[in-house]
Amino acid sequence: MPAKPIIKPEAVSIASGNGIQSFIESIDIDGDNKKYQQMYDKIAPFYNLSNKLYFWLKFGGEANYRRQFLDELEIREGDRVLEVSCGTGDNFRFLPANIELHGLDISMGMLRACQRHLKKWELNASLYHASAEDLPFENAAFDVVYHVGGINFFNDKRKAIEEMIRVAKPGTKLILVDETEKLVKGTYEKIPFVGSQFKHHSAIQAPVDLIPPTMQDVQVKEICDGLMYCLSFRVPGID
Ligand SMILES: C[S@@+](CC[C@H](N)C(=O)[O-])C[C@H]1O[C@@H](n2cnc3c(N)ncnc32)[C@H](O)[C@@H]1O
Repeated sequence: MPAKPIIKPEAVSIASGNGIQSFIESIDIDGDNKKYQQMYDKIAPFYNLSNKLYFWLKFGGEANYRRQFLDELEIREGDRVLEVSCGTGDNFRFLPANIELHGLDISMGMLRACQRHLKKWELNASLYHASAEDLPFENAAFDVVYHVGGINFFNDKRKAIEEMIRVAKPGTKLILVDETEKLVKGTYEKIPFVGSQFKHHSAIQAPVDLIPPTMQDVQVKEICDGLMYCLSFRVPGID
């Protein structure tokens, strides 16, 4: 049976010249999305290395950090897997082999760095430049959908959650991971040059209240020594 198409017919592709399909123009990005898109575009060349260093110091290695949430995913061989806000693609290296990888992000700088990493790691993934709040994908296109590290500061968290649910197949377990107030206040706000970007926000909480009541097995826990939360839930299956 041929694979179900991924891109929804009404999604307008702006460009794909560099191997990354773009569905958003810079001019159409506003609010906090604009602020963080610009910040990530700037820090993309250093992001991977500085993170690696931080994870070594804090958790004794990157795998010790990423496994704490990636092990929550239910991935089977051949699955079509989507990371919303994939950044420089660092989670991809820790996923099982023989799956179909798809990554989406609002920062073209991060996606370009991701492309370079994929080449270095000899991995394949389809990359998309778009906003989490307006995914260019068909309904129920993915077997696995997850997000790490951006949702706290999205313009519209509720819309992004609705979109992730829409593109996941019935029965999928979704995970949403982001930093807690402890990490933002204790570390992010103190980072030279970018720290000021994280100030003046309301207190961070896992967006449990935004999960539609029809979702099942909603769970939230603190991971990584209380520096991150992992919110998981299951899209109802077909009876
Ligand atoms: C902290 S990084 C996390 C990258 C990756 N998920 C990881 O775990 O290393 C956050 C990412 O969220 C992206 N992002 C921020 N706002 C977004 C939005 N509205 N839609 C899609 N991606 C967004 C940023 O460009 C950035 O790459």
